[in-house]
Amino acid sequence: MTRRPDWLSFRRFAAVTTALTLSLISIGVYTSATGSGLACEAQWPLCSDQLVPALAINPDFIEWFHRVFAMFTGFLILGTAGWAWRLGDRKTMFASTLAVVLLPLQISIGAVTVTIGGLIPGGYSLPTHAAHLLVALTIFTLLSLTTLFAYRNNHRRPPRERGRLGFGLALGALVVSGLFSRGVPLLSYSTGAQAWFYAVSLVAFFGLLAAVVWLDGADRIGRWLAASALGVLFVTLLLGRDLVMYTGTIRQLNFGLYLLCIGLTVAGFWRLKTPSEQPVSQRSTHSD
Ligand code: HEM
Repeated sequence: MTRRPDWLSFRRFAAVTTALTLSLISIGVYTSATGSGLACEAQWPLCSDQLVPALAINPDFIEWFHRVFAMFTGFLILGTAGWAWRLGDRKTMFASTLAVVLLPLQISIGAVTVTIGGLIPGGYSLPTHAAHLLVALTIFTLLSLTTLFAYRNNHRRPPRERGRLGFGLALGALVVSGLFSRGVPLLSYSTGAQAWFYAVSLVAFFGLLAAVVWLDGADRIGRWLAASALGVLFVTLLLGRDLVMYTGTIRQLNFGLYLLCIGLTVAGFWRLKTPSEQPVSQRSTHSD
């Protein structure tokens, strides 16, 4: 029997799977942004009558690469769930199994998106795109939860300190994502910017989700701030795609939501600045 190397633990495996899913989503956004969605002559699973298209950066390759990356990541998602079942830990089993259940659905929606060579004429449409995006974000959320649950017995810091770290990570990522955001009038929302916006925003998403998980039972208001920022960030992620007509009003709304998300995250970070385990509301307010 082959022995597993010491560094390969379940929690690390889950973390790598989550990071690869984040990359896969960013590659999917790049596929869409470059208009490569109907490349490969709209075929699936073949690509322009080939198993492997010419290895040059063109729409066929971009679309094919997204599929291959999805296949590789899919195997890791299966592996994560299988490992969770072997360990018999209920929380990680539940979250990772749900991700596996969604996997065939996501692959089918992907296939419908490319119309399977014209077999599904209305496949490349807004509802299909929206479904593909929503299922992708759900899978990412479930894998992030799997990772957070897997690490729950390996923390050296108390929950409030970890919550602050989560807010700090989210804040850093949100500031960077503002550079690429469609709602912030800084850089043009180019194909590359769209992919980076998603990658960095999902890091912020993970940070806020971590704060929600870690602050459970440790700080009610901090947890509420993290959950609210997470909800607002989710809406800005949707506004970053072409799901609604992007008018000037929507742009202003997007900018406002971005600022609100930053505001909620700063408030959470600020609230947890005291290192004590005890909620601020229960501490003595005497300062002098
Ligand atoms: C776990 C598996 C997968 C994930 C997480 C995923 C994720 C994504 C995401 C986030 C997008 C961007 C959607 C948008 O712009 O709103 C995308 C685009 C796309 N995906 Fe996937 N995907 C997966 C599997 C697949 C598979 C198996 C196919 C098979 C053909 C596929 C085909 C496509 C196509 C064609 C696009 C571009 C659609 C467009 O032009 O707008 N995906 N994917």
